[in-house]
Amino acid sequence: MKTYNIALLAGDGTGKEVTDEAVKVLKAVGEKYSYDFNFEPELIGGCAYDEYRTPLPDKTLEIAKKSDAVLLGAVGDWKYDTLPAEVRPERALLGIRKELNLFANLRPASVYPELTSLSPLKEEFVSGTDIMIVRELTGDVYFGTPKGIEIKNGEKFGFNNMCYFESEIRRICHVAFSVAMQRSKKLCSVDKANVLDVSRLWREIVTEVSKEYPEVELSHMYVDNAAMQIIRNPKQFDVILTGNIFGDILSDEASMLSGSLGLLPSASLSDTKLAMYEPIHGSAPDLKGKDTVNPIATILSAAMMLKYSFNMDKEHDLIVAAVRKALKDGYRTQDIMQTGMNIVGCSKMGNIIKDNVLTL
Ligand code: IPM
Ligand code: MG
Repeated sequence: MKTYNIALLAGDGTGKEVTDEAVKVLKAVGEKYSYDFNFEPELIGGCAYDEYRTPLPDKTLEIAKKSDAVLLGAVGDWKYDTLPAEVRPERALLGIRKELNLFANLRPASVYPELTSLSPLKEEFVSGTDIMIVRELTGDVYFGTPKGIEIKNGEKFGFNNMCYFESEIRRICHVAFSVAMQRSKKLCSVDKANVLDVSRLWREIVTEVSKEYPEVELSHMYVDNAAMQIIRNPKQFDVILTGNIFGDILSDEASMLSGSLGLLPSASLSDTKLAMYEPIHGSAPDLKGKDTVNPIATILSAAMMLKYSFNMDKEHDLIVAAVRKALKDGYRTQDIMQTGMNIVGCSKMGNIIKDNVLTL
């Protein structure tokens, strides 16, 4: 029986609740197909700070680096809001992305037919939407230097640097074009090339790399227009390729097409085998311990792990089908509750999906 070692970084808030359910579902897949998924829990975020005075302990990084894949819940809690920036839980997320070189963040935003009425947008606009946002994750203004807050001309001056090396742009392009080749061969690159030099370079490199993928239809869009078009006509998009900060913003926006942040998974890939999988939602500390949070985003992140890290396409599809069946059968967590449906908690939802995995 093949063993897969998974670093399990539940993090803060409801991170443990949602990763527990994903673990259940992965174990069911293991049982069904005879894989041994071995989980190694470690601390990350605020809980790590409480224990070790750092949100990203070396030990956590070591376990993550040695693993076959990382499953992360979420980090952050209001109680850490007053900590200095360098030890805030969010720093752990940026730190682990950088340390593991997870430069390619895939954020699918698809709308489930069972849930189209949940979107705040009109059903006719969102139904059938299936977007894959490919967000560069280890560069841009998030990591650029110089940065800081200084005194200049007698007043405070805050600054960050939006910058990309062409090699950083090129490698994310190859990921995005490869993803596009496996989907409908349509890619829209989002930038702000009418204003920013860094975006002009972005556009130049994207155009250059596109020549290696002649089958992919490439378009370019300014980010302000893209933000509008995602709401106006989301179905025009298939793969969206963009930088770190634009991708951060647009992926939260796109999540609303599906109706709930609690549904959307993500994969962060490197150029080695190692990758990390996490829901795009945060730690929802207000819901902690209430067993009401939606585990679907994390369960679907585990499904992405099977596909992208372990080449288990069939098993990935099985988890997606198990989630779809739970929705079709009328089970809903509170964030996606609709009249006439059955409200269930986090662990019940996980159990239903796990049972579907075993029986489908
Ligand atoms: C995300 C989050 C993070 C980001 C924060 C928590 C650092 O918003 O994963 O989208 O900005 O990348
Ligand atoms: Mg974000």
